[in-house]
Amino acid sequence: MLVPRKIQNLALIGFMGTGKSSVGRLVADALHFTFLDTDRVIEARAGKMISKIFEQDGEGAFREWERRIVEELTRRAKTVISAGGGLPANPANLASLKTHALVVCLWASPEKILERVRSQTHRPLLNAPDPMAEIRRLLSERDPYYRQADVLVNTELRPLREVAGQVIHQFRLAQAR
Ligand code: S3P
Repeated sequence: MLVPRKIQNLALIGFMGTGKSSVGRLVADALHFTFLDTDRVIEARAGKMISKIFEQDGEGAFREWERRIVEELTRRAKTVISAGGGLPANPANLASLKTHALVVCLWASPEKILERVRSQTHRPLLNAPDPMAEIRRLLSERDPYYRQADVLVNTELRPLREVAGQVIHQFRLAQAR
């Protein structure tokens, strides 16, 4: 059965390093919405960093945290959600977000992603011997999910502030429909 959509939130999905948190904060400020980053909520609830969750409990436990948070998000309004990069790879998560949020995917090339995440160490999936190969592998695996977003925005061509402007424009259009 098709669940009717009520767009009262905005969800940013996309690969690590595409600017979801930075753009999300700018958009939330402009719309006077609350900003929520699923990774930060999980860390607060679990009482440990994402890297520790992966290390001590495994990726499966982390994905279960994500699933639970996504369920809770259905009760929110006026919220800009920045979703962890792997969250939409669970089709149930994506379907749930779509019931209450406009889903916008931020896109960047593997080269740009590596440039942005290179100096950071907090992402367990990229602490690999060959991070570029890992980015390419995960991107091609997730591409079919990311493409199911309502809107796809390239973040490479313009500063994040302009990306945020574009996202806001798309959100206003969706609400006017
Ligand atoms: C992950 C992305 C991270 C975080 C975790 C796993 C992924 O979030 O959820 O390290 O599977 O792509 P960001 O996309 O916010 O970095």
